[in-house]
Amino acid sequence: MLKSAGLFPRDFKKTYPIAVRGEGCWITDERGRRFLDASGQAAVISIGHGVKEIGRAMAEQSAQIAFAHTSQFHSAPAEKLAARLLALAPSNFQNGGRVYFTSGGSEATETGIKLARQFHLEKGEKNRFRILSRRQSYHGSTLGAMTVSGNVARRAPYEPLLAEWGHVAPCFCYHCPFEKSFPQCELACANDLQVHLLEHEPERAAAFLFEPVAGATLGAAPPPEGYAQRIAEICRKNKILLIADEVMTGMGRTGKPFAVQHWNIEPDMILVGKGIASGYAPLGAVLVSSRVVAAFERGSGAFMHGFTYQAHPVCTAAGNAVLDYLESQKLFERVAPAGKNLRDALRTVQSHRHVGEIRGLGLLLGVEFVNDKSTRVPFPKEQSIAEKIRRACLEEGVLTYPTQGCVDGLRGDHILLAPPFTISPDESALVARALHSALEKVFPS
Ligand SMILES: Cc1ncc(COP(=O)(O)O)c(C=O)c1O
Repeated sequence: MLKSAGLFPRDFKKTYPIAVRGEGCWITDERGRRFLDASGQAAVISIGHGVKEIGRAMAEQSAQIAFAHTSQFHSAPAEKLAARLLALAPSNFQNGGRVYFTSGGSEATETGIKLARQFHLEKGEKNRFRILSRRQSYHGSTLGAMTVSGNVARRAPYEPLLAEWGHVAPCFCYHCPFEKSFPQCELACANDLQVHLLEHEPERAAAFLFEPVAGATLGAAPPPEGYAQRIAEICRKNKILLIADEVMTGMGRTGKPFAVQHWNIEPDMILVGKGIASGYAPLGAVLVSSRVVAAFERGSGAFMHGFTYQAHPVCTAAGNAVLDYLESQKLFERVAPAGKNLRDALRTVQSHRHVGEIRGLGLLLGVEFVNDKSTRVPFPKEQSIAEKIRRACLEEGVLTYPTQGCVDGLRGDHILLAPPFTISPDESALVARALHSALEKVFPS
């Protein structure tokens, strides 16, 4: 076995198998063990592992020209992918929208934050700089992205480095922060944005950033009907930009190219990452609507920002090849039925005394484990239930994405399931069987 000596690991107390091959929904390690990738790693893999066309497209681009700096050249694959992404986006991105490519989700968040700030400068609104967001959210690991994130554990060590621009209530019906239920709540969580704005110098607010389906932190919590529309209304009324962080939900994961399309809202920017290149290349993007682009075009003309590797020709070639595959194999269309199939398979575990809720949209599902099903009380943090479930699933050869803290930042255990869109009914049944045995092991009766 290859000994880990040089690579800085995520966790020094863990050992990591070496992944040597990927095929469809499966990963094989150096010892020949096969794992069913039920989490698409971290909701990254959409078309499946080992699709040869993607590597070929990247090699061809690399042989032609691997790199040209965006201060001097644009490249054909970047131009092509930008146009294709805009065509998939809501109508306010047509006729003048643009795409800013990055190397991943966190860079997309940073770019979105700075675009929002400079947009207001271009409009002569110098006081607007605050990017409002939600508690219990995740937007990336760089400092700007951490500033807007509300994930308690991931923020904790860096609190002294983070500014506070304002966090409002999460939208989380299973553990409603207002202890209300829909629809009697009248969307108190959405209204919390308006309340916050009234109480905290609305003239300094620049944008509101949110995950349309809260992914890692809340375990795939979709909003109730009307939430996204109300948020969009409040942003418009208060003259602040709306930024949808679709790094996890975008590129088809919830059954539409972008999750905001389930509610027909038109955000001013959409952040993407993960599925945009399905893990074949480090790629992210900010889709910028025509209105925001126009402010730059008519204003200073230059965005004060840049990354050496933005709009990388080989990475955007990978993005085009992934999109070709999604389209030719009709994989966008597969998400809704495959998601339903996985949910149906999971019905066998839904009745378990410690499975509180199975939620999500399309192929972004969360399974939350509770100590008491009738009161929804979580397990004490120290019991590390999500991690125990992950390990027990792994023993059954199934990979999941565990997180703690969905209830209050510390307590609350869930796993995320976000498999490739190609997952078959047999593979879904295998995921359900693995979770069933994991529950038996972790909670022996
Ligand atoms: C909603 C959301 N935004 C941003 C990010 C950060 O993306 P990356 O890890 O590619 O920097 C993530 C990553 O999990 C995410 O889920």
